[in-house]
Amino acid sequence: MTIGHPIIKFDTLESTNKTAAELLNLSKVQHGAVILAHEQTAGRGQRGRSWLSEPGADLMMSVVLKPARLRADEQFALGKVAALAVAEVVRLLVPGEVRIKWPNDVLVDRLKIAGILIKNEVVGELVHSSVVGMGINANSHDFPEALVATSILLESGRKVELAVLLDHVCKALDRRWKAYEAGESGLAEEYVDQLWARGRWAELLLDDRPVMGRPVDVDRHGRLIVELEGGEVAAYGLDRLRFAPR
Ligand code: BTN
Repeated sequence: MTIGHPIIKFDTLESTNKTAAELLNLSKVQHGAVILAHEQTAGRGQRGRSWLSEPGADLMMSVVLKPARLRADEQFALGKVAALAVAEVVRLLVPGEVRIKWPNDVLVDRLKIAGILIKNEVVGELVHSSVVGMGINANSHDFPEALVATSILLESGRKVELAVLLDHVCKALDRRWKAYEAGESGLAEEYVDQLWARGRWAELLLDDRPVMGRPVDVDRHGRLIVELEGGEVAAYGLDRLRFAPR
């Protein structure tokens, strides 16, 4: 089944992730279905934060995936596929440097242009289903400075049609997901190649304490491998490590 079939459109809903999960629980959607909203009234972001998008200006979508066989301890593969697909599409549309900030923010020259929120349902040792929510700043142009954000319009000087953007994202995600499921290698390398701040000292919060660290890699469980100032190299998950807010 192809990602983007069907596309279920809503005018206003709380969150496309919430609706996708509800439809999935009711077995009303299968692999490939996309929930699309003109407006979200309670968009969700990472770490319990809210996600604000301008109605009709930005892309708010959630994709339902049913992995054929994805071990729960390797579920970060979904994040890599999604971030690489979004980064690929953004790169088509803007001239700036596109990078993936661990775990799966998409940045253009340090500014956030897209966020991804993934909720997996794990049964036993396997991921049974997944809702991959993506918010892409497409045509909005007024961001509070604290958000450190940008949009396709601001970066390219051109409006992008949301239907065109949606089509690009579905196709990129479908191609990358099929390649991953077919066992094609290279996903980890490609993700690490695009990692923001790789090899550079960055301000991090480790167990909520500020530290300087140099991201060097990401392991198969999705933990960021960082070199700390004392020279120690270790892998940390999101439960312990994050980039300091800029
Ligand atoms: C982040 O905090 O960076 C993740 C943001 C994810 C936002 C998208 S918008 C569509 C989908 N529905 C939601 O409620 N959140 C995701």
